[in-house]
Amino acid sequence: MTLTSSSSSAISSAPETILAIDFGTSHSLVGALHNGQRIDSLAIDPSSSDPTLMRTLLYFPTPDRCFYGADALKKYTEFEMEGRLFRSFKSHLPNKFYLGTVFENRILSLENMIGLFLLELKKRAEAVLKTKVTKAVIGRPARYSMDPAADEFAIHRMKKAAEYAGFTDIKFVPEPLAAALEFRRGIHQDKLILIGDFGGGTSDFTIMKITPNEFQKEDVLAVDGCPLAGDALDSVFMSSRLNRTFGAQTKYRLPMSSNLMTMPVSVMDKLNKPAQIVHLKERDTYEFIKEVRKCALREEDKQAIDRLFILLEDQQIFAFFEEIEKTKKNLSEKPTSAFKFDYPDLETSEVFSSVEFEDWSENVKTEILSALDRCLAQAGVEDSQIEHVFLTGGTAHVPFIQNEFIGRFGAEKMQTKNFFHSILSGLIESAKSWDQLGG
Ligand SMILES: Nc1ncnc2c1ncn2[C@@H]1O[C@H](COP(=O)(O)OP(=O)(O)OP(=O)(O)O)[C@@H](O)[C@H]1O
Ligand SMILES: [Mg+2]
Repeated sequence: MTLTSSSSSAISSAPETILAIDFGTSHSLVGALHNGQRIDSLAIDPSSSDPTLMRTLLYFPTPDRCFYGADALKKYTEFEMEGRLFRSFKSHLPNKFYLGTVFENRILSLENMIGLFLLELKKRAEAVLKTKVTKAVIGRPARYSMDPAADEFAIHRMKKAAEYAGFTDIKFVPEPLAAALEFRRGIHQDKLILIGDFGGGTSDFTIMKITPNEFQKEDVLAVDGCPLAGDALDSVFMSSRLNRTFGAQTKYRLPMSSNLMTMPVSVMDKLNKPAQIVHLKERDTYEFIKEVRKCALREEDKQAIDRLFILLEDQQIFAFFEEIEKTKKNLSEKPTSAFKFDYPDLETSEVFSSVEFEDWSENVKTEILSALDRCLAQAGVEDSQIEHVFLTGGTAHVPFIQNEFIGRFGAEKMQTKNFFHSILSGLIESAKSWDQLGG
């Protein structure tokens, strides 16, 4: 089946307006195909420094009120961090143990949370476009999870969320395929290209042939990816250093037991991850940590756990991870960066170097590169055969990621462009072939 990128028959059979939604772990963008015409990124978040980029944030000051994107952050500060702020919730999609959360009397399933966010994107886009829309092309990562069943589950939940938002016709397009559609727009000769999209939650790869002819599905030789990217890199600052100040190395002994225990990995895993840490507040876990504090052998560990309680109780989790992210971004520019957190009783001052950041990120890097190797193997292509390498997504700024590609493919093949808008642009392109897209 041919997937045309510009065929007039595909355009004429296209519905009037199709929204293209890049629902990202960190940022979301919306564009449209309106009567066959591309409408690039819509200004969906006027309060944001780039109004076309909306941070994927939900803030409930009370169970019945919700703010989105830049407003979520503004109101969170205004209401003195009361209520619940959710970030990176896209990454829960493949997790069958994460059904959602309960906020006072309101049950918020993950599908509801994502649905509310998509509904807001839809409403804002409709206001800009001055038309109602029920059709949408929505991006999805190559792999929400390495487990195929979990991947299926994630897409099932995304569909429910999109229906909740009021979309009646929905097509999911792999984000790496969207990237490929975007990058082929600028090349008109036969070329073999590799695209890497490094976002907040996932890293995706595509290998495709570009020909001067119309785009065919068969041009895409392989698509692969893994659920590790920018958030995983933020985590390494916690897991490698900062979590010690919150009791990660606590040793304790339960009453009547001779076993020496350490803070369980399951608890630490939550503490280290920006999407998970908020769940330390759930009653069972919270009570368990209190027990650990009681039974901790060293005074300094008790104090560290007290700091953890302040972090959780005083709603400082989001701010702490924002500071980590800032430090990480600085390390894309400079060899060292200061991490400074001034909240009373949580004061932290450290200097991190890009060398230690790279060192701590070794496992994440290895996983990401394994996905690249799988993609090359699946395509049956050697590194030397790749003619252009396009890197996109916010995490493509990280020097040690870029250097891997320069080292493997050569600096002359590298093309980095359009860090945040290329997936959206490709999704709009894919909407031109609505009838040929899978469900
Ligand atoms: N200068 C920078 N250096 C390092 N990382 C950066 C930089 N700028 C942005 N990032 C990281 O890029 C990530 C966001 O990228 P992007 O907006 O492409 O992700 P996303 O599309 O929301 O996520 P996904 O596609 O995985 O769902 C964040 O983890 C952010 O910290
Ligand atoms: Mg993305």
